[in-house]
Amino acid sequence: MNILGIETSCDETAVAVVRDGREILANIVSSQVALHAEYGGVVPELAAREHLRAIGPVTKLALEQSGLSLAEIDAIAATGTPGLIPALLVGTAYGKGLALALHRPYLSICHFIAHIYGSFLESEYSLSDRALYPLLALVVSGGHTALVLISVEGSARLIGRTLDDAAGEAYDKAAKILNLGYPGGPIIDRLSVSGDPRAYAFPRGLTGGGGKPLAEKNRFNFSFSGLKTALLYSVRDRELSESELADVAASYQEAIVDVLVRKTRHAAATFSCPTVCLCGGVACNRRLRRDMQSALGEDGRTLVLAPPVYCTDNAAMVAGLAYHHMRLGIGDGGDLGTGVSARLGEDLGVVPFAPGATSR
Ligand code: KG4
Ligand code: ZN
Repeated sequence: MNILGIETSCDETAVAVVRDGREILANIVSSQVALHAEYGGVVPELAAREHLRAIGPVTKLALEQSGLSLAEIDAIAATGTPGLIPALLVGTAYGKGLALALHRPYLSICHFIAHIYGSFLESEYSLSDRALYPLLALVVSGGHTALVLISVEGSARLIGRTLDDAAGEAYDKAAKILNLGYPGGPIIDRLSVSGDPRAYAFPRGLTGGGGKPLAEKNRFNFSFSGLKTALLYSVRDRELSESELADVAASYQEAIVDVLVRKTRHAAATFSCPTVCLCGGVACNRRLRRDMQSALGEDGRTLVLAPPVYCTDNAAMVAGLAYHHMRLGIGDGGDLGTGVSARLGEDLGVVPFAPGATSR
């Protein structure tokens, strides 16, 4: 079964064609990074306009690369939620239009679950292996910081999320404060290599401290806005030398990575998860990959890490996941709306790749 997947939830216009959930026939990603660089972050309205311009040519290119004609496409899938609403609307409207014209099913795909699926696209681990469950995923990108728990029966629950900035946003905003360019994550990742991560004691949001225990409801939630403010106060009116800048970057990164690792580790222990998967753009971060690997390794858990190309937004993960929806016969999500973010405790729908999943 050949599925054409579309991803426009943020600033990448991506279209892929995937056969039977795994064989990637085409995977095209058109990035808008240059467009948003001047603002230091993604401007939703600009992103939507650019998606509108790019979606046709990117789809054409993906079909060419796949060697298939439109008539050979069996279903169309697009990211439905969560994401930037104006951006999502372009991909979903285009996908629905294409499906209608071709008389094919249309599937609305959850971005979190797609990211998790993407981590396994070229992995030695298989999502059909029962021993992997309950599976915990940390989805960290420019728009999301979320801990998702997936049962072997295929239920998915959001157990933690950011209350303010996403982890990637924290990187991007720091780079803006430090005048480093956009996107900030890869730049701070590089700069930090030569810095001292203990040079500055930046705050670790929602980890308790200051004499106050952490509220139960925030055990697995994140907050990065205080960290960003602390950075602003520590560098304003100062002329930083090259080595000071590297120290600031490394210490700031340490604060983000420390919290992500601590909370993920705690959640994996609380829910007895043998496997953790790290995905989203921030999962490209070398320090995060290393520290997460060593922390979970110490606890005897397996960490599944995608190659960077499947960490960042792409449509192969959308088309791949959609195949499993079709396989289970829970395909037609055509009426599902778009949503900007998921709520804590929210049921994210049936995860069709889980070995015990059945249509509800
Ligand atoms: O998943 P993604 O491509 O798009 C969405 O936001 O959905 O993630 C982009 C984010 C940006 O905030 C970027 O700064 C961050 O991922 N990022 C990184 C690294 N590479 C990308 N953050 C930290 N270290 C990196 N190496
Ligand atoms: Zn994403």
